[in-house]
Amino acid sequence: MSEVLVVYYSLDGDVRHVAKALAQGLGADWMELELVRPHPERGFMKYFKGGFLAATGATPPLRPLAHKAANYDVVFVGTPVWNSRPAPAVRTFLKGADFAGKKVAFFACYGGSEGKTFRILDALVRGAQVIGHIGFTRPLKNDREQCAADIVRWAKELVTG
Ligand SMILES: Cc1cc2nc3c(=O)[nH]c(=O)nc-3n(C[C@H](O)[C@H](O)[C@H](O)COP(=O)(O)O)c2cc1C
Repeated sequence: MSEVLVVYYSLDGDVRHVAKALAQGLGADWMELELVRPHPERGFMKYFKGGFLAATGATPPLRPLAHKAANYDVVFVGTPVWNSRPAPAVRTFLKGADFAGKKVAFFACYGGSEGKTFRILDALVRGAQVIGHIGFTRPLKNDREQCAADIVRWAKELVTG
């Protein structure tokens, strides 16, 4: 059995919800990415700053990581979609890790659509084998149980396939 890590950033809980279901379903290690200076959780700046940082490719510093991607065979990486792109914390993580020779799969949560998110994520892990993508529309507001079941089924097929 491969060593599997689930890594994610979540501001409002959607990505956290599916990430935890995924880690539990696979019996995998997991870690949530935390910014040194947390992102505003409400108000104008939440969207304005988030949209701006995502569009400009910012890589804000993260708090120390609980696990090293280097120690795993397969890494699942989850992000909310911000301004059609990955959240900046995920960009920081991907730029700071070496994925050469690893299998990587991406999952995203969004209000409308994934936009350019998966294309950008794929380009950030050159040297890795990208084995899958999956997206969910606001799982906490829609069908949280179905989304949890769907991500586990999807991931199990990737890991064993
Ligand atoms: C700064 C910001 C920008 C967003 N931009 C988009 C977008 O471009 N497209 C979209 O479908 N949803 C967008 N959303 C909605 C989130 O992707 C969606 O609510 C997601 O489920 C949040 O995941 P989280 O709860 O794990 O933070 C945006 C949310 C924020 C906070």
